[in-house]
Amino acid sequence: MTSAFAAAAANPAADPAASAGPASPLEIRAFDAPVGAEVLGLDLSQPLDQQTFAQIRRAHLDHHVLVFRDQRITPDQQIAFSRRFGPLQIHVLHQFQLQGHPEVLIVSNIVENGKPIGLGDAGYFWHSDLSYKEKPSLGSLLHAQELPAEGGDTLFANMHLAWDTLPAHLRSAVEGKSAEHTYLAKYAELQKRSPWRPNLSAEQVAQVKAVVHPVVRTHPETGRKALFVSEHFTTRIIGLPEDESQSLLDELFAHSVRPEHLYRHRWAEHDMVFWDNRSLMHLAAGTPDHLRRKLYRTTIEGDVPF
Ligand code: OGA
Ligand code: MN
Repeated sequence: MTSAFAAAAANPAADPAASAGPASPLEIRAFDAPVGAEVLGLDLSQPLDQQTFAQIRRAHLDHHVLVFRDQRITPDQQIAFSRRFGPLQIHVLHQFQLQGHPEVLIVSNIVENGKPIGLGDAGYFWHSDLSYKEKPSLGSLLHAQELPAEGGDTLFANMHLAWDTLPAHLRSAVEGKSAEHTYLAKYAELQKRSPWRPNLSAEQVAQVKAVVHPVVRTHPETGRKALFVSEHFTTRIIGLPEDESQSLLDELFAHSVRPEHLYRHRWAEHDMVFWDNRSLMHLAAGTPDHLRRKLYRTTIEGDVPF
């Protein structure tokens, strides 16, 4: 005993605590909310070592939304960090790509010379990003570029909690069921109420064919179940008559976004927010029309839901 202890003390490499590497300055502080944590002591402009990267991945799985404060980073640095988690997805609205960076979608209500510079109504309805694709998104990252003096919050709903707390009659109604998701579900409605939705070309429409996903999915990394239907993109539950399907979806949507499942993100300058689309839905709470808001989004590709 004594000699083993002495050996460890004399040779740090033999000490399990020391072999984990130098103490990391990274601090992860969970919010007082059903999802979300703040990551302190990290500069995302610098390449991450393996150990820090592993810590971030773990925290992302545990908290579902990570907020990195005060990140003075370029679009290239956002892309590089995002790519550590998987290949990036290019949004079908190529009109709103950042010049020279097709991986970055501009989310903004700003209109310049009569032309919107970005997607202004992203998140008008509750959704999980790209759930309308065969391979929906693993997670998305939004980096604040310009924030309004008021409004502009983003809400997140914990869909694991939504499943865990779902009343028994709804659980049995959806267990084993699949649902259709389509990008076009609310497109015409959004087009009517905002200037941000261009007419889609035939090629764009072909890129967003409807897909079918399980209503309850299993998170591929944690094994936890989550409800996976949204107001924005889910149109019907397969195998049910239209009226039954719609009323069931309405009940699922209402339950998912109960206040006790939510975290409200109030943006601060240079925030980078990284969320898990496999376990959350999100919503843009809204920005007054006269105030400017601009964020850059990167979107990581995930797995086929099961
Ligand atoms: C998005 C989105 C919400 C917001 O960028 O995917 O839904 O608050 N944004 O801007
Ligand atoms: Mn979104």
